[in-house]
Amino acid sequence: MAQELPATMGHLEWQSSYISAAGRRQCLGESLAKMELFLFSTCLIQKFQLMPAVPGQPPSRVPEQGLACPPKHFHIRFLERPR
Ligand code: HEM
Repeated sequence: MAQELPATMGHLEWQSSYISAAGRRQCLGESLAKMELFLFSTCLIQKFQLMPAVPGQPPSRVPEQGLACPPKHFHIRFLERPR
């Protein structure tokens, strides 16, 4: 049998921590992660030329549907740059 809520619970106060996007919580490693990503991708691009697996057919620019909208799966070729 369902219990009646106490009158004081009829009003729910919104707390910013319920949903992270609405609150003050934030990734503490954001700056570090950004620097790492920059170094990683820079090294990669310095050493390799990234080409579509099928020449003339670049990856689709239409994202997958979802929370983060990632790109659709694709294949690429890494061509080592001459030193
Ligand atoms: C690409 C790398 C990273 C991504 C995408 C990422 C993403 C996230 C996300 C989405 C959250 C949740 C934030 C929220 O509650 O609203 C989070 C929290 C957190 N991240 Fe990261 N993060 C990354 C790297 C790092 C690194 C390198 C560190 C530490 C060295 C780190 C430490 C933390 C900590 C401690 C929290 C919890 C913050 C809290 O509870 O208030 N993250 N991260």
